[in-house]
Amino acid sequence: MILGIDTSCDDTSLALLDTNGKVLANVISSQTEQHASHGGIVPELASRSHMEVLPRLYAETLHQANVSEADLTGIAVTHTPGLIGCLLVGVSFAKALAYRLKIPLYAVNHLDGHLLSPFLTHSPVFPFLGLVVSGGHTAFYQVKAFDDICLVGQTVDDAAGEAFDKTAKQLGLGYPGGAAIEEMAIGGNSQHLTFRTVKVKMGKQYLSFSGLKTAVAQAIFKQAPAAGDLPHWCASIQEAIVKQLASKTTLFLSEFPYKSVALSGGVAMNTALRERLSRVCLEQGVDFLAADKKYCTDNAAMIAYAALKRPKLADIFLLNPQATQKIQARQLLREMSGGGS
Ligand code: KG4
Ligand code: ZN
Repeated sequence: MILGIDTSCDDTSLALLDTNGKVLANVISSQTEQHASHGGIVPELASRSHMEVLPRLYAETLHQANVSEADLTGIAVTHTPGLIGCLLVGVSFAKALAYRLKIPLYAVNHLDGHLLSPFLTHSPVFPFLGLVVSGGHTAFYQVKAFDDICLVGQTVDDAAGEAFDKTAKQLGLGYPGGAAIEEMAIGGNSQHLTFRTVKVKMGKQYLSFSGLKTAVAQAIFKQAPAAGDLPHWCASIQEAIVKQLASKTTLFLSEFPYKSVALSGGVAMNTALRERLSRVCLEQGVDFLAADKKYCTDNAAMIAYAALKRPKLADIFLLNPQATQKIQARQLLREMSGGGS
């Protein structure tokens, strides 16, 4: 029974998985309302909020899964990447708990969590092309096995989610922008405006989204959209992002005999993206495995799952107080006697 903890950004999440990867509880406390009035995430507010809600969420997670602390055999926590203060809160909480319960602590990379999140609900089909599209990252991975993962392409600047968030802000749609743009795009004409994508000189494996916000800013400067045109603008922005992700997916599929595409991350919530990639996969004869919508945005179930499937690759710490004391005593003696490191 493994406890997952994710406090990397503005969602506090705890989850409990059994050793087969079955989710027994996945509790999320969102801070969106707290940050919305600031137009984006305020890191200090986010860390403090994680600190306040963690103990209550921990109790709630155990209660939902109907297990006691004594049943826990490991703790998986996101240690990077993320907002440093937020990560520190989650890692400190996890360390203290692992120390008290004397169980191993797995330090998990948040992106491994997203990458493997489709398999909380689907069986993996190796080798697969993993596409992680979140608020902070847009990356393609070649995955031959759970412990054989290779980054094959990524954005050189903004992430796809950032492109949604920044253009939504320019159009006055508030934060977070992805869902707002998707909703506003309903019934809009995606060919109303054409936002060209920038070709990255470094190589065809790279993407760029930062030009999109400049293009939208220039279009607004020329003529701000009338309220009635907003659906067309949003549909056109969504199309520019989806088109670029779909064309890179087609490119990667042509370069290696993948058997499936696994889509994950907050932007994977987007229905236009899911439909377009599903069509690409159908045309290319590969399976399309998208993360279930409840596991697209940040959640701790994916963190516990990544620790279960990649235990050797997660950093494992067994917080044994006696061992720590022995090492410290030895180091101290060496330093006092002028010995080397
Ligand atoms: O994975 P996530 O929860 O956090 C990160 O690790 O970054 O992703 C959040 C991102 C935000 O940029 C948000 O605008 C985007 O996911 N997002 C969406 C949708 N829902 C959330 N983007 C497009 N369409 C959506 N429906
Ligand atoms: Zn994330």
